[in-house]
Amino acid sequence: MKVVVIGGTGLIGSKVVTTLGEHGHEALAAAPNTGVNTLTGEGLADALAGAAVVIDVSNSPSWEDTAVMEFFETSTRNLLAAAATAGVSHYVALSVVGTERLPDSGYLRAKAAQEQLIENSSLPFSLVHATQFFEFIAGIADGATQGNTVRMAPVLFQPVAGDDVAQVVCRIAVAAPLNALVDVAGPERSRMDEFFRKILAAQDDPREVITDQHARYFGSELSERSLVPLGEAILGETRYADWHGRSRAYPVASSTT
Ligand SMILES: NC(=O)c1ccc[n+]([C@@H]2O[C@H](COP(=O)([O-])OP(=O)(O)OC[C@H]3O[C@@H](n4cnc5c(N)ncnc54)[C@H](OP(=O)(O)O)[C@@H]3O)[C@@H](O)[C@H]2O)c1
Repeated sequence: MKVVVIGGTGLIGSKVVTTLGEHGHEALAAAPNTGVNTLTGEGLADALAGAAVVIDVSNSPSWEDTAVMEFFETSTRNLLAAAATAGVSHYVALSVVGTERLPDSGYLRAKAAQEQLIENSSLPFSLVHATQFFEFIAGIADGATQGNTVRMAPVLFQPVAGDDVAQVVCRIAVAAPLNALVDVAGPERSRMDEFFRKILAAQDDPREVITDQHARYFGSELSERSLVPLGEAILGETRYADWHGRSRAYPVASSTT
């Protein structure tokens, strides 16, 4: 089966391409550096010719409010039109748990717009909502850092390994379309402030984590359950400590002095 992976050179996309290939599928990594640009439409028709499934795990190069909205709206419109023309029978996209609950975030408003376009299209689809990737945790800490302090809200937090997300995306992509949303999260749930306090201390990171009910997460104040699945979810198997022990590529203490 031919599967086109939009953003197939990225963090999740490259894992998805590898996994699909290991299962005997023809997985095409589509991205600007392989000649496919969803914003301009360049290379899209050729890439999608003969494809049964499209998986969109692309991301916007800019997270500035206007730019990210332009990216997800224009790319998704182009992609949906090209997929319909090519006769694609399953359109899969990766989004973020809590997207619809955090409208103060420009990034998540853009992801919500992407989802709406997919839901309103005529194509059979599956939407996968994932919690924060382990690989993104260093960036979350850095984004919340001021001087030597990291402000975090005491809300529920349940990050997941990128590998586990990729496995779920592949399983869903080769099955029948859900025409619905499915949540994916990590195996452990804790509070965001406690999680960061523990991992920074474990890595001898000098930053102090301050619990702040009003600490913003990419522009949004958080409530108790903003970042975790509200109902049933598929849980990844990888625990953060095991992943971190194996991964030296993404140290949390990346930008402190
Ligand atoms: N970070 C998290 O914790 C998290 C949690 C839940 C869901 N997600 C979602 O997961 C998805 C994948 O994230 P990621 O971290 O794997 O992304 P990533 O590593 O930043 O990769 C982004 C991919 O998109 C491609 N791309 C950029 N502009 C493009 C364009 N105009 N046309 C086609 N492809 C383009 C990039 O190609 P080039 O390399 O050629 O630029 C790259 O392959 C995102 O949609 C994100 O919203 C993220």
